[in-house]
Amino acid sequence: GVGMLEVHWEIDSTSSELARRIPVLDDLAFVISESQSAGRGRRGRPWLSPPGMNLYLSVLKRFDAGFASLSGLSLAVGVMLIRAMGEVGIRTPGLKWPNDVLAGNAKLAGILVELSGEYSGPCAAVIGVGVNIRLPDDLHERAGQPITDLASVTGGEPPGRNRFASALVAELTEGLRTFERHGFAAFADEYVANDLLRGESLRIIDPRGEYIAVGEGVDERGALRVRRADGELVTVDSAEVSVRRS
Ligand code: ATP
Ligand code: BTN
Repeated sequence: GVGMLEVHWEIDSTSSELARRIPVLDDLAFVISESQSAGRGRRGRPWLSPPGMNLYLSVLKRFDAGFASLSGLSLAVGVMLIRAMGEVGIRTPGLKWPNDVLAGNAKLAGILVELSGEYSGPCAAVIGVGVNIRLPDDLHERAGQPITDLASVTGGEPPGRNRFASALVAELTEGLRTFERHGFAAFADEYVANDLLRGESLRIIDPRGEYIAVGEGVDERGALRVRRADGELVTVDSAEVSVRRS
């Protein structure tokens, strides 16, 4: 069963709310909000979070084995999101390493994993998921990159938000328990089956510089595998890396 599931009308950020309450909450506590006044993406970037028809959801999951055991967690959550979409009949989206769900090259959903606690002792992950179900028109200009929603993907009526939210809560509840036991290895094949970067020419931007390489899936820890122009197969696992299709 599910632990706590709390629904707010407005909040700064569902992930900030869980982070504030880590000491007092049970495992698998969920917070959903109708809107967010300070929704966050990675690296402090904003996540546009108007009220209406989108989903802003975060879940707290504790892990006894520490951060060391959590490589690939955001990729596994991507697989859980793809499963939840499949359950409501949506099969076109794919995953862009490390943390985006795209449909037709536009961002449909984002995943933000934030960790606190110990490297090899008890720790907590606050996992935030934003899914666009029906975007207001003006959001497209404000996003700074192509974005899309489930309404556009289905070309008509999007799935009901409550129905999708309950599918996602169920997938996260089960999937996070599986991840706790088996790690990313239990999700790797399904990740690669939904990997939009596989076989694509990519521009990798990391602290050492910029280069072009071809996506070759991910390894058992969730690091991106790419083949460089000189033929060498390298893995890219820094959170400081940006990947663009070139
Ligand atoms: P990277 O690949 O480096 O992570 P990114 O563009 O995916 O780059 P993130 O920090 O993961 O960056 O996501 C934040 C970005 O998502 C914002 O800068 C904005 O462009 C975009 N964004 C903000 N709100 C939404 C939304 N509701 N739907 C889709 N995209 C959004
Ligand atoms: C990204 O693509 O950068 C991740 C975006 C994550 C957005 C979700 S919305 C629910 C939760 N609360 C936040 O403030 N962010 C995440």
